[in-house]
Amino acid sequence: MGDKQEVFVTELSFEERVRSLVRPNLLAIKPYVPGRTIADVQKEFALQDVVKLASNENPLGPSPKAIQAIQDLLSELNRYPDGATQDVRQAIAQHIQVEPHQVFVGNGSDEIIKMIAETFLQPGDEMIVPYPSFAQYNFGAQVMGAQVISVPLTQEFQYDFAAMREHITARTKLIYVCSPNNPTGTWATHSDVKDFLEDLPNHVIVVLDEAYVEYVNSPDPLQSLVFIAEGKTVLSLRTFSKMYGLAGLRVGYALGNPELIRYLHQVREPFNVNAVAQVGAAAALLDHEYVTRCREVNEAGRMQYYSGLEKLGVQYIPTQGNFLLVKVGNGIRVFEDLERHGVIVRAGFLGLDEYVRISIGTEEENRRCLDALAQVLTLL
Ligand SMILES: Cc1ncc(COP(=O)(O)O)c(C=O)c1O
Repeated sequence: MGDKQEVFVTELSFEERVRSLVRPNLLAIKPYVPGRTIADVQKEFALQDVVKLASNENPLGPSPKAIQAIQDLLSELNRYPDGATQDVRQAIAQHIQVEPHQVFVGNGSDEIIKMIAETFLQPGDEMIVPYPSFAQYNFGAQVMGAQVISVPLTQEFQYDFAAMREHITARTKLIYVCSPNNPTGTWATHSDVKDFLEDLPNHVIVVLDEAYVEYVNSPDPLQSLVFIAEGKTVLSLRTFSKMYGLAGLRVGYALGNPELIRYLHQVREPFNVNAVAQVGAAAALLDHEYVTRCREVNEAGRMQYYSGLEKLGVQYIPTQGNFLLVKVGNGIRVFEDLERHGVIVRAGFLGLDEYVRISIGTEEENRRCLDALAQVLTLL
């Protein structure tokens, strides 16, 4: 017996030994690949002027009011932040017209997605997600050893709520609905979600990811607050990374019934949202002028892409977000060619080989992208 153990230990490499110690469900997780940075592309192709339209960021920079609040706080960084995020929760609650204890703030909504999984999922549980959609949902479930059930969108990238319902079992704990959906830009109407929520089993929590809610101007927009007020087992996720231009600061929040919110605190680190993020986010909420301008620029950009792509004879998917999916043939190849022209977009989404996703930028950035696309597509 003793001999056998010795052979076992010496036969394994260090790497193999460590691997054998890791929780098995973590081994299947593929690390998140972020959009390429401007600096990377400048260096690789020796380019000066590179435009990044890859991560659905706000092209106008942060709100001046947020910048001022952040600068004012810098000399107090010797202090820990408020772990209870009281001021920023109060500011969000006032803005959204809910109670502060219905608001949970996280280090980006990414963190909250993982915390929702940590709070509610365990091995054997199932989580239903749309496909293609935001990959972070799967990550949370995989970390917890729960099973991800991906339900495809329709051919037009619309939600197939009937199919989602068919996949609900006694093990289903979480269902994600992302609207507008990243990366397709398509959206669910309030009536559709309302019907879907009718008579769901008691053991199911529906998370409505509304990261792009501030851009929506469709008829019958999703109103998650109505569902929350009706006592549905629903969480709404929102973020300061998109319309509020603070992606680098990392602030997102969840809204829901206090009984749902309460348990997220069980997995929260004591100071999960840093002090700079808290003051920046609270100040950004008050900058209505900035938000109005960002919305106008995005709306104009959306129309610029629609008409520019129509002129090029290139198909796109109508969007309600600050990004759109464009059908280019070979997505990866066009992505690489656009990089050579100094335009960074995103491709390689599972199931979307023929598409690139373009974030809507300033008028000038969009023009650069459309010009580059025209050149790249004629060369194909
Ligand atoms: C649908 C969706 N949810 C959540 C997030 C994450 O946002 P945050 O920056 O707040 O982590 C993103 C970011 O791209 C997103 O597209």
